[in-house]
Amino acid sequence: MLTFLSDTWTGVLTAFRGAPTTLYVSFVAVIGGLILGFVLAFMRRSRAKVLRGVSTLYIDIVRGTPLLVQVLIVAYGIPALVNNNGGDFKWAQDVIPAMLCCGLNSAAYMGEIVRSGLNAVEKGQLEAAASLGMTHGQAMRLIVIPQALRIILPPLGNEFVTMIKETAILSYVGVVEITREGTLLSSRTYKMFEAYIGVAIVYIIFTIPLSKLILHFEKKMKMD
Ligand code: ARG
Repeated sequence: MLTFLSDTWTGVLTAFRGAPTTLYVSFVAVIGGLILGFVLAFMRRSRAKVLRGVSTLYIDIVRGTPLLVQVLIVAYGIPALVNNNGGDFKWAQDVIPAMLCCGLNSAAYMGEIVRSGLNAVEKGQLEAAASLGMTHGQAMRLIVIPQALRIILPPLGNEFVTMIKETAILSYVGVVEITREGTLLSSRTYKMFEAYIGVAIVYIIFTIPLSKLILHFEKKMKMD
């Protein structure tokens, strides 16, 4: 029992070393994803058919394929493609492509979050703004977007929690984040159970307080 506890504790401490990478990659992915998500949402609301089509296609493809497959394409598929053409290109294990991959993935989900946020703002407000002489751009910028941001905030937080967990997929391509630290530990000690329980505990340390915080904000926003 005592060895179990001490091995699990070692698991927690080891997995914790991967936490900065996990949090950093998730954070950058969510911020980048939010920006691109806004672009995708506006494209989807646009009157131009091409923009609508491109945005819809992007969202459908990204949400229709597993993140693991996207990560494998970026980590191994693209380098292989370049190297077959005489290049010497390698970027697996790097956090930059990891962030890129997760950010591009998150953008598709974020696009839908932003779109539903914009749609949730009552249509009458746009008409009211127009009757005050505002242009469509002014009305969006001053009336609709600020309200949409409030609506978007909780699902945005949830997307961050999701990304913290989903980045575990990156351990597959050698990014040393929380899960990979656990795998490396288990291959040194053969204490698989203890190592991965440690990994789970580290995720819990971040995800549960974050979810509680989001819930708190959500409740606070409903009051007024
Ligand atoms: N695990 C799912 C997949 O592989 C979800 C991907 C990421 N989800 C997200 N909200 N960014 O398709």
